[in-house]
Parts: sequence; C-alpha cells; structure tokens
Amino acid sequence: MEQTLVIIKPDGVARSLVGEIISRFERKGFKIVKLKMLTLTRQVADEFYSPHRGKPFFEDLLSFIVSGPVVAAILEGSNAVDVVRRMIGVTRSFEAAAGTIRGDFGLGITDNVIHASDSRESFERESKIIFKD
Ligand code: CMP
Repeated sequence: MEQTLVIIKPDGVARSLVGEIISRFERKGFKIVKLKMLTLTRQVADEFYSPHRGKPFFEDLLSFIVSGPVVAAILEGSNAVDVVRRMIGVTRSFEAAAGTIRGDFGLGITDNVIHASDSRESFERESKIIFKD
C-alpha cells in the first residue's frame, strides 16, 4: 500500500485546523501510520526544502516553516501521493478549488496550510528527514 507525508504548517496549527484536516484524511480512508507535532529547526527545514534552495521565495519559506509547531503525518492508502495532492489543492491557496484543504482554509502561498509529498521519491526523502527514528 502506498504512503505519503503531510505536514500541517504553522498557520494550520495556529488556526486550530489540525483536527479538521486529519479528519478529512481519515474519512477519505487513509490510515494514519505515524503522527507527531514538532517545531522544525532551521537546519532541518533547510534540508527538507533543499530542492527549493536558491529560489526567490526560499528564505521566506524557511522563516515561515520554523515559526511555530507543525503536525506531520504519514498516511497510507491506495495511490496516496496523488489522492492526497488532489485533496490539498494547488500551491496558491487563493486559486485552490473549493472542497480542497487549501481551497477551503487558505489564501496564501507561503502560508498555504499544508504540505504533501509530490512523488514517491519525495516521500522517501522527506519522511526520513521528519521521522528520523
Ligand atoms: P509546499 O508544498 O510546502 O512546497 C514548497 C513551498 O514553497 C510551497 O508549498 C509554498 O508554501 C512555498 N512557496 C512560496 N512561494 C512560492 C512560489 N512562488 N512558488 C511555489 N512555492 C512557493
């Protein structure tokens, strides 16, 4: 069964959306395999977002992602990567379709409520960084 990683970002946690968001994944049929709250260090955030190093938004992204606690989960279910990407909606929350997590709860780009792995390879890399144990 396929797995994917989601991270409810500091805005989602601060706005008390954790229960609502996790509940959507549970109701959809995903199994929560791992779940934890943590605050990323700058070093871990830099490694996690390393594919975006050098992009104009990188510094803002790092500052934002370390600004408060996040909730990370590994979800398991059929076609987890693609299905979860569809459930969260496009990166620019103000363009995300109604019914998606970003479409229903966000307006921002950097502060876009949630991250999800965009491929199986990203999942392997990202989950090792976030769930080191
Ligand atoms: P995420 O799915 O976490 O992956 C990289 C993040 O960079 C993205 O969500 C956005 O929060 C953030 N970001 C900020 N500006 C941009 C941009 N112009 N294009 C893409 N991602 C951006």
